[in-house]
Formats: sequence, C-alpha cells, structure tokens
Amino acid sequence: MLTHAVATEDFFNKPLLELLFKRADEFAAMDPVDYPKPLSHKTVATLFFEPSTRTRLSFETAIQNLGGQLITVDNASEFSSAKKGETLEDTIQTINAYAEGIVIRHPEVGSAKRAAAVSNAHVVNAGDGAGDHPTQGLLDVYTMAKDGVDLKGKKVMVVGDLLNGRTLHSTLQLLILYEAEILLVAPPSLRLPRKYLDLFDKYKISYTQLDNWSNTIAEADVLYMTRIQQERFASQADYDAVKDSFRLTMDDVRHMKSEAVILHPLPRVNEIDPAVDSDPRAQYFNQVKNGLYVRMALLEHLFTN
Ligand code: NCD
Repeated sequence: MLTHAVATEDFFNKPLLELLFKRADEFAAMDPVDYPKPLSHKTVATLFFEPSTRTRLSFETAIQNLGGQLITVDNASEFSSAKKGETLEDTIQTINAYAEGIVIRHPEVGSAKRAAAVSNAHVVNAGDGAGDHPTQGLLDVYTMAKDGVDLKGKKVMVVGDLLNGRTLHSTLQLLILYEAEILLVAPPSLRLPRKYLDLFDKYKISYTQLDNWSNTIAEADVLYMTRIQQERFASQADYDAVKDSFRLTMDDVRHMKSEAVILHPLPRVNEIDPAVDSDPRAQYFNQVKNGLYVRMALLEHLFTN
C-alpha cells in the first residue's frame, strides 16, 4: 500500500501538480451528481488537534463527494485518547485499523511524517505546527495559475508571519516549481526561515526580503497576505509587538496592478480591511472554493494510484 506523508519536497512535482490542477478544473465544472466514487467502501479519518474551518470541512466534503466514509474525532487534543497520554503513534495505529486514509493536523512540526511512518494508510498533512500545509500550498498555487496563467517570472509578494506561517512555507516550495519571483515582506522578527531561502538558492529562484511593501506593492502580480500566528508566540507581549504590522486597505489596493490577484489562506484577523473584499482583485473566497476541488483531485489520485 502506498504511504504518503504529502510533505511538499518528497511528493509533489510539476507533472503531478498539472495533473491534479486539470482534474480540479474538471471537478469544478462537473455536476455533483456526476462525481465519480473512487473512495466507495473506503474509510477516511480526519484527526485535527488544532482548530480548523476550511481545511477540515473541505476535506470532509471531498471525502463524501467521492463516495468515501468519513470518521472523525471532534477536537482531537481534547476528546481523543491523546488527552489520556496516548502517543501520536499509538493513536495513528488505532485509526489505521479502521481507515485507509488519515487527514491529520497537529501542533508539532513533523507530526504527519511520524504518523505516516507507523501507518499503511494514506496520511495527508493538513498542517503540522509552524511547518507545512501542503494541500493549502496546492490550492494556493492552483488559484494563482488558474486559467492558464504562466507563473514563470511573475512577482508573488508574500506578507505577514513568514516565520510561522505553514501555508506559505508550502506555497513557496511549490512556487519554486513554477519559477515565480518571490518578494518576502515581514517584520524582522518574523522573516522566512533560512532553510527556505537555501531552497530558493538551490533552485535559482530570485527573491527579495523587505520590511514593508510601500514601493513594491505596485509590482506584485500576486499579493499573498497571511495572519500573524498568535498561537506560536511565547507571550502576549511578543504578539502585541507585531500584530498590527500589516493591514491592506483600498488605499494600497489602488496602487496595485489592475490584473493582480489578492489571496489569503484565511482566517484573517485585521490584515485585510473587509472593504477590499468587493474589489475584483480580492480572490480569497474563490480560493476557499478551489480548496474543495483540489482536495477531491488529491484524494482521487491517492486512492486510484
Ligand atoms: C491556515 C492554517 O491553519 O495554517 N488556515 C488554513 O488552513 N486555511 C492559516 C492560518 O491559520 O493562519
């Protein structure tokens, strides 16, 4: 049986991305009554040790759309046996007795890989602490490249908590495959970890680190805003010191290219003024919808290959 940690560098490659994106386009165009059922008689468990709205509900919808049976633990850190001191490995081996797929979100970096190591189910990383969030990366890049947009040389500006933001860690790794140019905007204390810059160097991706977007926002083809990840901070004072670093308003958007795209993995706190939502460049709610189709494409791929 295949075992996938779905950690970006180990798993995704450009041909696979193109395949998944084409399939996501097909799912988006399909009448739901025509969805295939490659997961019928298969059980997939969702195991979320951290809060989630979009990732969990889109996976759970995708599993059921494809004919799979869903089992889940509400608030796994509170209501699974982890609360009684069970190790992640033991919990996973238990779920493995019931399910052929496990979608896991957990606060520790590397947790999905640990789960995959003790499981012969398909393990999908739905966010491991401040590490990765590969399926969000997938839907982010799908949204950026939609309708035949060639990302090569396009300027993707990523703003916010680049240290802790797992979505952007995955998105940036996938953008390497598309040879986009990267503009990194963060307070000095929340810069992108060195290991990602090393990857850019390794694959000859051009990048620039900035403290603010003032002059450069007008050059961005994609503006990817992110939330300051409060739950990863050691103290409230540390968070308060940076929490209001960025707030996108229509005054900024007016300086942007008319065909630029504004994305956000959501949830947003204060970093995008809701007045921006009605601007056609704001695509974050379409991004949410794309997440369903991309996750359907990924699950179908895992269960049919
Ligand atoms: C993000 C996450 O959980 O990493 N949300 C998501 O999955 N779309 C982003 C965040 O919490 O800021």
